[in-house]
Parts: sequence; C-alpha cells; structure tokens
Amino acid sequence: MSAEPQTAGSAEFSNPNLEVLYSEQKIRDRIVELGRQITADYEGKEPVLVGVLKGSCVFMADLMRQIDLKMTIDFMAVSSYKDGTMSTGDVEILKDLSNPIRGKHVIVVEDIVDTGLTLSRLLEILDSRGAASIRLASFLDKPEPRIKKKLKIDYTGFVVPNKFVVGYGLDAAGRYRNLPFIAVVKNPSAQ
Ligand code: IMP
Ligand code: MG
Repeated sequence: MSAEPQTAGSAEFSNPNLEVLYSEQKIRDRIVELGRQITADYEGKEPVLVGVLKGSCVFMADLMRQIDLKMTIDFMAVSSYKDGTMSTGDVEILKDLSNPIRGKHVIVVEDIVDTGLTLSRLLEILDSRGAASIRLASFLDKPEPRIKKKLKIDYTGFVVPNKFVVGYGLDAAGRYRNLPFIAVVKNPSAQ
C-alpha cells in the first residue's frame, strides 16, 4: 500500500462542491445520545435493528455500537415505484429479512424520511408480520416534503432543511455514500 496522498482532483472529502451541514464530530456526538436513549428504552428487551439498504448502512454500523444491550440486526432492501420523480408509495421488496420478526421488538433504521411514502408502506408490511413492537430510527428527518404526516419517527438524528443532502450513507446517483459527514451538493450538475 502506498502512503502517497490522494491527488487534489480525485479527493472526495475535500471536494469544493460540497458544503458541510453536519460534521463527523457532530454526528458522532448525536449517535452517542441516540444509543443511550435506545439502550434505556429497551432495557430488559432484545431488539432487532432492521436496516433499510443501502442508505442506512453507515448509520446502522455506528448506532448499534452505541446500544449496550443484547441485540441482533437484519436488513431489507426495497425499491419504491416512482411516478416521474414522486414516489407513489408502492414498494417492491428486493431483499427480505433473513429471520422472522414475529414477537420481536423491531427498530427500523433508515437514512432519511422525506415524503414518508416508502417507509409508511414498509412499516405496514412489517406490522402485518406480528412484531411485538415496531419503532423507527431515522438519521435524518426532512419534514417539509412529508406526505404521510402521521408517520412518527421515534429516534431522529437531525432535522434537515428541504435540500438534497449526501454523505454518511446517503447518495446522489450512487455517489457520496462514503463521506464521513453530511453535505449539500452546491452545484448538482458539476462533477
Ligand atoms: P420517501 O420518504 O418515500 O420520499 O423516500 C425516502 C428515500 O428517498 C430515502 O430513503 C432516500 O433513499 C431518498 N432520499 C430522500 N431525500 C434524500 C436526500 O436529500 N438525499 C439522498 N437521498 C434522499
Ligand atoms: Mg433509503
């Protein structure tokens, strides 16, 4: 392995087209708080964290290491049908859970809740499987475009303005998931 630094042109973390919204440190501090809260709320229980792929992978990895309980994890991948750019609320399960959730205390782990259409449908699907309880942890909450107004987010990292954000698992056309911070892409058409 070479210890050579990245050339400025290929470095992503210092990309001048990104405006940092939440720094790595700020995210770390917030996740410690969320982990403490979940640890206290689920005392005596063995929750299963269900990560919604792919966006939740970074949040999931950090959050579970702050939950000091016996617990397990599982993953789902869903694709939401879009009518133009608007999600219709119909979801297709691309990857289902590996284990049944009947009788389990489920915490669904999401990257961001926007309109809430995808997640509302996903929660209905999970609810029909007889979980003992289902709660929602979303790293980001973008309330402005919310259509499913009744959707309750039990654990929220940060509330964000109505802007397209990337990093910490969130992507724009597959890119930026690896950023250790949350950023806004200043000029989406620039590289
Ligand atoms: P909705 O809540 O059904 O509208 O869809 C939420 C999904 O859209 C999230 O799980 C993300 O995958 C994606 N999404 C919504 N807003 C953003 C954003 O600002 N950046 C990256 N992905 C987003
Ligand atoms: Mg998602």
